[in-house]
Amino acid sequence: MTLLTTRIEERVKMTQSPIVVEEFFKEKELDEKEKRIFLALLKEEYSGGEGQFRDMNTLIELISFDEYEKIKNRALLEDGAKLITEEIIDYEEILNMFGGVSRAFYLQEEVMQRIIHPKKKKKVTKLKLDALVQEQELFEYLKPTSTLDDVVLHPKTRETLNNVVKQVDKEVFKKLREWGIKDKRKAIDARIIFYGAAGTGKTMTAMSLAKTLKKPILSFDCSKILSMYVGESEKNVRKIFDDFKDLSTKAKVEPILLLNEADQFLSSRSQGEGSSADKMHNQMQNIFLEQIERFEGILIATTNLLGNIDKAFSRRFNYKIEFKKPGKKQRLRLWQFMLPEKADYSENFNMVELAKYELTGGQINLIIKNTAYKVAVREESVFSNTDFLEEIEKEMGSSFEGAKSMGFKV
Ligand SMILES: Nc1ncnc2c1ncn2[C@@H]1O[C@H](COP(=O)(O)OP(=O)(O)OP(=O)(O)O)[C@@H](O)[C@H]1O
Ligand SMILES: [Mg+2]
Repeated sequence: MTLLTTRIEERVKMTQSPIVVEEFFKEKELDEKEKRIFLALLKEEYSGGEGQFRDMNTLIELISFDEYEKIKNRALLEDGAKLITEEIIDYEEILNMFGGVSRAFYLQEEVMQRIIHPKKKKKVTKLKLDALVQEQELFEYLKPTSTLDDVVLHPKTRETLNNVVKQVDKEVFKKLREWGIKDKRKAIDARIIFYGAAGTGKTMTAMSLAKTLKKPILSFDCSKILSMYVGESEKNVRKIFDDFKDLSTKAKVEPILLLNEADQFLSSRSQGEGSSADKMHNQMQNIFLEQIERFEGILIATTNLLGNIDKAFSRRFNYKIEFKKPGKKQRLRLWQFMLPEKADYSENFNMVELAKYELTGGQINLIIKNTAYKVAVREESVFSNTDFLEEIEKEMGSSFEGAKSMGFKV
């Protein structure tokens, strides 16, 4: 590896004509190590190949003499490092087979353009997605804040999800090799359904997945489709996909399409003779099917439907992930995660007791908020189990599902 770097450096020395890369180095005032990282990544962009230089550890080895230096040099590739803050390089996080996250670095598109076409002035054809989104009303632009590590999931759900992330990755690599394309960011294709009870973290997971894949997310609230223009829902379905495609081609980074609460798209279609409303609904679903079939990129649909997802849809989605309600262990972790750290708790406060109640993450979130409002107005703002239990009872009583199936006496 060092051999390769020296060879690159020698060649650079020999050339007579001005070298764009050198000018770039000067302008950015990069030091020797940063230059090396840059050159290694440039090599990746040009020659394709396995992408081994994109890996964080490989890059660090390239610039370190011993273990101590390796530790020190990590700072050059971490958030806040010059190469990253000045938007010269960026990385994507990939879930590896062992459940850990590894980083793959690449040169930013603009920098590449400058190196390849130094004469071309500036090409600002691509725009920031958040600016584009402001000009329309169909989609909401969601900025993911949580990562997949923040989501507490039933082990089964977690396992399937990890598999999806892995497979999404594998597919990318396979396709890229076949096509000989280096830019692996553009090739991910997946249609995913998240299904399960309310408040189990479907929307949150979709956002976290986006963060892991380093993509923005455009969300469409599917309940809107009926109220948009009555009787024109087929047209509206097309509009979702057309507008998404339009935004996606204009944007710098291709977003993920999130179809939130997509129940009416995915529910079983009515058979045979139906009312005209049924017919319209079927028609709308047919258009939806057609659009799904053509869709390029990553699409995630979330739904509360459990068993009755239409077979025709089921087939057209690559991944269907059930979000199970959290078990006792997960509930305990959810409470741990969500309870305010800085607050005071009474001596007899007992989290294990709270975790006994069969609540979803969404419910626990709500209960904690409601309890906090209550406790905050008290003079002595100390949280006790009774405070929480009152809110738990209210929540389980009001959600008829909870009251029916489990009651709140444990
Ligand atoms: N598995 C989880 N891990 C961590 N937090 C969770 C989890 N599930 C729910 N939450 C919390 O509850 C909130 C609501 O969850 P979310 O909106 O993702 O649920 P959902 O499955 O999309 O529900 P719905 O079907 O009602 O849309 C989240 O913002 C988060 O704070
Ligand atoms: Mg949701």
